[in-house]
Amino acid sequence: MKKYLLAPSILSANFAVLGEDINNALRSGGDVIHFDVMDNHYVPNLTIGPMVLESLRTYGIKAPIDVHLMIKPVDSLIPDFAKAGSNYITFHPEASKHVDRSIQIIKEYGCKAGLVFNTTTSLNYLDYLMDKLDIIVLMSVNPGFSNQIFIPSTLEKIRKVRKIIDESGYNIMLEVDGGIKMDNIGKIAACGANMFVVGSAIFNSNNYKKVIDYMRKEIETK
Ligand code: DX5
Ligand code: ZN
Repeated sequence: MKKYLLAPSILSANFAVLGEDINNALRSGGDVIHFDVMDNHYVPNLTIGPMVLESLRTYGIKAPIDVHLMIKPVDSLIPDFAKAGSNYITFHPEASKHVDRSIQIIKEYGCKAGLVFNTTTSLNYLDYLMDKLDIIVLMSVNPGFSNQIFIPSTLEKIRKVRKIIDESGYNIMLEVDGGIKMDNIGKIAACGANMFVVGSAIFNSNNYKKVIDYMRKEIETK
């Protein structure tokens, strides 16, 4: 497996030509497609559901899809997203009534499971879960919108979680989501992240490959 993954977030893609835009991001070097699901209830925005994911698979997108659920409740939509073709499904623990159950459902349907921590959410949720997680996501903006500014306190949190993962001995990805740009990705990598969600920095540029190549260099020379 690759040492780190770059995950273009399609929240900033052109939804009128979504399949084409995603292929462009993949051809430019994106590893995983980050798929933001918002319900105008857990977060103040509304995006896309399992039907869109399924149609991307039908269209021919083969890359892993990383579904970030910003919805409350969580459990009822997990099977739909899994059947539509998700690879990773992550959710916010405060949006789930029974966190362990939500993780179980994700795994039952054959997907990799993860928790997403808002910048102010305590890491206590990790106390009894490390053996069940494939991925831990740290939000570095308040969830709901693309193109926000990276919240600096996240750097310390990344270091903390890197230590928790290393000490646990489990093979868990550490993903950071929000406000990642060409000028801060190196710093984020240096703190121990190995999966990077990048929305506006890629899709709002006119040369996806240039941005992705630059970001890889920053990560590798961190
Ligand atoms: C925010 C989403 C992010 C967002 C990142 O709630 O979870 O995935 O698309 O976009 P940028 O990279 O523009 O901050
Ligand atoms: Zn996201």
